[in-house]
Amino acid sequence: MDWGMRNRIARMFRPDSGRTVMLAVDHGYFMGPTRRLEHVGATLAPLLPYADAVALTRGILRTSLPPTVPTPIVLRVSGGVTVLHEDLSDEAITTPLEEALRLNASCVAMSLFVGSPHEHETMTALGQLVTDGEAAGMPVMAITAVGKELEKRDPRYLALACRVAAELGAHLVKTYYCDGFSKVVDGCPVPLVVAGGPKLDSDRAVLELAHAAIAQGASGLDMGRNIWQSDHPVAMIRALRAIVHEKATVKEAMELLGSSEPPRADRAAAST
Ligand code: R5P
Repeated sequence: MDWGMRNRIARMFRPDSGRTVMLAVDHGYFMGPTRRLEHVGATLAPLLPYADAVALTRGILRTSLPPTVPTPIVLRVSGGVTVLHEDLSDEAITTPLEEALRLNASCVAMSLFVGSPHEHETMTALGQLVTDGEAAGMPVMAITAVGKELEKRDPRYLALACRVAAELGAHLVKTYYCDGFSKVVDGCPVPLVVAGGPKLDSDRAVLELAHAAIAQGASGLDMGRNIWQSDHPVAMIRALRAIVHEKATVKEAMELLGSSEPPRADRAAAST
């Protein structure tokens, strides 16, 4: 692996723990203005100091992040359909690699829809992106299972999807936590980061998910809604960092959560 590729990967992982807490704010690319992500810049500002990387699209990068921000960028480069489309797997590469290089991204990310109608197209697109990424020194993160695919929170499915992503050359894989997650980790030879999915019922459930994922071998998190839809987003990301980087227990993380941030003013907002 060339120096540039290794340097980009190293930027996203904290050297002492070897793990990462990525903050995902790319949801609008197919979901539109998701609750509490209507104004991405305002949502991001207090959280960025606690993110090891931020995952977004080029449009949100240009409109919502000042170029002085030092946080490594994971640039989503796939898209093409929205939640209104019947087949979410009908994605293609929407942002070329040249633009990711121009934007000084540390990584590009695309969705891989294993077992979906456009499985073949997304798999060959991943292969091509890895080929181009290798030539340019740009790591590629494959994102397994989004949208309706979330119904497939099954270790056999996720192990298959993550392994296939690694076989196609992905340098990192983002997936979802499931019971039996160690099977997913065992079969995947590249680092796995775990998304949170829709907002869970309690803070404890979020911390338990993160703790279980790390305990079973995840290299970190790439989490969105369970951080920025929280009533105390800064405290939540700090508590998650304690689990990921400092081996905090769920109890210790809960204590940190309870002590560090008053609930946000709009907590009464209807949930969506
Ligand atoms: C899908 O919109 C993206 O891949 C998200 O970045 C991913 O699902 C992580 O966000 P969350 O933790 O909200 O699921």
